[in-house]
Amino acid sequence: MSSTFISKGADGYDQFMGRWSRRLAPLFLDFAGAADGERIIDVGCGTGSLTLLIPDRANISAVEGIDYEEQFVDALRRRNTDPRITARQGDACAIPFGESQFDRALCMLVLHFVPTPERAVAEMLCVVRPGGTIAATVWDTFGGMPSQRMFWDTLTAIEPSTLGMRGPALVKPMTSPGEMTRAFVAAGLEQVTEATLAIRMDFANFEDYWIPLINGQGTLAAFLSTLPETVQDRIQSAVRQAYLSEQPDGPRSFASVAWAVKGIVPGR
Ligand SMILES: C[S@@+](CC[C@H](N)C(=O)[O-])C[C@H]1O[C@@H](n2cnc3c(N)ncnc32)[C@H](O)[C@@H]1O
Repeated sequence: MSSTFISKGADGYDQFMGRWSRRLAPLFLDFAGAADGERIIDVGCGTGSLTLLIPDRANISAVEGIDYEEQFVDALRRRNTDPRITARQGDACAIPFGESQFDRALCMLVLHFVPTPERAVAEMLCVVRPGGTIAATVWDTFGGMPSQRMFWDTLTAIEPSTLGMRGPALVKPMTSPGEMTRAFVAAGLEQVTEATLAIRMDFANFEDYWIPLINGQGTLAAFLSTLPETVQDRIQSAVRQAYLSEQPDGPRSFASVAWAVKGIVPGR
């Protein structure tokens, strides 16, 4: 299996994570770069938060998006109006392009869903020409997403049967400090640099926070629906209290931090 990502459709993705990946994309692009004339591959392009932004930054020659999920690729194609952008189903661990086909590979919020992320880095290294750039970003799921941690810590405190779920949700591949940098160096990339990218996740009220969370991607929604209704109500009420923190319901804003790493492909 090359992906642990559980999809609930393109609309579900956009409501749960796409709204935040659209905020992260410009910061990641500032870090990763894009230059006139380049051929760029967006690995794990999803519904196109990053892919569709690239031509605003540079007069690129082409952007190829690949994603494991055919339905995301379809959603991206429907949104796209730029003939230089194409997208296809494909696996980051077996990228469907030959050696040195690209000047740059970008990979946003994907490597933490790949059970063998080193394989994906090696594949990007293969399809990018010597001297080209590879850049990736993943959420700091353990220490950099207070909106998610608030949910998981509350959940595990009141419902012990969920204890085994918190670790996998918060400790994902490539998300611990320096882990992605070490993987890039081990793969042979040169001039590897790391940065922290920060956005804010803004919610209109508790419902805006809660509904995407329980309807979003992942096994959580499926798991919650297996619990007795009284337990589900208790969980929702406890998370609501944490969200409100003794203030009236309404907007809340949470910082959200991602690791970003880039490196240069060495000569072959
Ligand atoms: C959180 S989404 C990020 C999507 C997009 N890059 C964005 O930032 O909006 C994670 C994406 O990684 C894709 N993905 C996970 N494993 C993959 C793999 N092995 N190959 C290609 N795509 C993969 C998923 O299908 C999903 O679209």
